[in-house]
Amino acid sequence: MSKRTASTESEQERKKKKAESGAAAAASASSAHSTPLPVLAAKASSLHYLTGFGCHHESEALPDALPVGQNSPQVCPYGLFAEQLSGTSFTTPRHENQRSWLYRIRPSVGHPPFTAVASASSSSSSSPSLASELVVGDFSNAHISPTQYRWKPFPMPGSDSNGKSGSAASASASASASSATVDFVQGLASLAGHGSPDSKSGLAIHVYTCNTSMVDKSFVNSDGDFLIVPQHGTLHVRTEFGMMVVSPGHICVVQRGMHMSIGVEGASRGYICEVYNGHFRLPELGPIGANALANPRDFQQPTAAFEDRKTNFTVVQKYIGKFFTYTRPYSPYDVVAWHGNYVPYMYDLNKFCPLGAVRFDHIDPSIFTVLTCPGPDVGVASADFVIFPPRWAVQEHTFRPPYYHRNVMSEFMGNICGKYEAKPDGFMPGGASLHSCMAAHGPDAATFKAATTELQKPVRLPDDSLAFMFETAYMLKLTDYALKIAQPDEDYWKVWEPIQSQFDPNWKKTNTNSSK
Ligand SMILES: [Fe+2]
Repeated sequence: MSKRTASTESEQERKKKKAESGAAAAASASSAHSTPLPVLAAKASSLHYLTGFGCHHESEALPDALPVGQNSPQVCPYGLFAEQLSGTSFTTPRHENQRSWLYRIRPSVGHPPFTAVASASSSSSSSPSLASELVVGDFSNAHISPTQYRWKPFPMPGSDSNGKSGSAASASASASASSATVDFVQGLASLAGHGSPDSKSGLAIHVYTCNTSMVDKSFVNSDGDFLIVPQHGTLHVRTEFGMMVVSPGHICVVQRGMHMSIGVEGASRGYICEVYNGHFRLPELGPIGANALANPRDFQQPTAAFEDRKTNFTVVQKYIGKFFTYTRPYSPYDVVAWHGNYVPYMYDLNKFCPLGAVRFDHIDPSIFTVLTCPGPDVGVASADFVIFPPRWAVQEHTFRPPYYHRNVMSEFMGNICGKYEAKPDGFMPGGASLHSCMAAHGPDAATFKAATTELQKPVRLPDDSLAFMFETAYMLKLTDYALKIAQPDEDYWKVWEPIQSQFDPNWKKTNTNSSK
């Protein structure tokens, strides 16, 4: 009896506090009209994140904003609209099904019809186009070549590869050739890809270079998920689910259909892998066991934040590779609460737990897979995101750099910082390389010589070096931007030219040259 009474009193007290906090929150919500969300987070460390990978999370910016026990009540708390965002088909098996419920001030549908984004050249005004003209969404007619390619750092807006101003090679060249300010959507440029979003098959690899925040402007991608790898400059990524601050050394994934606005602190550059089908997941670990590589607890999701703000807000939506736009009178960042497992996320690459050979041989780079987007065949990825992190190299009697090889998969690499072990010179931070299906590649001549003559002892690959690879089963095609504007290094093939035959027909096995 006493326990029950105590419990009842406690419940009454809880309900009273809940009502009081609800009233305060309602007043706060009302005052939010005049408090827009900041374009840049004041302090990255002040943001709160949820943790885990593929979890069903929930987040409320106001207390009790989430309906209890159901997704779509007759009337939602605070008069919000319930809206589902589906990341998989309704009938996708439960273990792969992804969706979220968003509780927002106005439904997303409240907007005028889309119009095609006008190109800078066709626009009657002198203002730059809302979006880049260098984005490709259909690679059927793109350039094909089995050649090995390497690109110098992709120029920042208004500068050439040497950092000088006035170059036409900027990623933003077509979108705003005469503009000094370029935002994320204007600064996108496609390098390579396969397939097309209309069949939900294939992928695209882009770079972005920008120097201006998206203000009262959002980007929505109907075509696939963006895995964003910042190389220079911190990104303040606002989404309907909340904000993430993503610095070089971190990555984020913003999935298909989500509004996002990118704020920048200055000149910014990075890489994007866009997958037209499926979603990234953690790779299987097999005999490794339950831990290591990217641990689920280290992935971070934003928490709900909203604004109820009247403004002329421009939405740019990519649909089958083309950009469309509308303007609506309210911010789309009006989601007061959400729950589900279709949520953008970020990850600190420094938390990756690398494994490697502890006795001999160079292990296949798949051991460094952070995320994978599976293809239709088991073990064959549409896209793997692989990093080459700081670590120890300890192998004995081993050629330690990446071995020479020809790969059935295609390998696009970027350098976030430092020197990559197989090519310490020439593969520069902010640049890239592409070794397509069966394109032979491997260490340059100097690296080969050093690796075959070094005294082998444990070596620490430095903390300030970090390269990555987008590896794909698709055979990649190249864009005009990749071949004509960004201009690949024509002399790349020469890094292997000095390699001489080491063949000695009189070689005899001895105790000193045997491998073990
Ligand atoms: Fe390779």
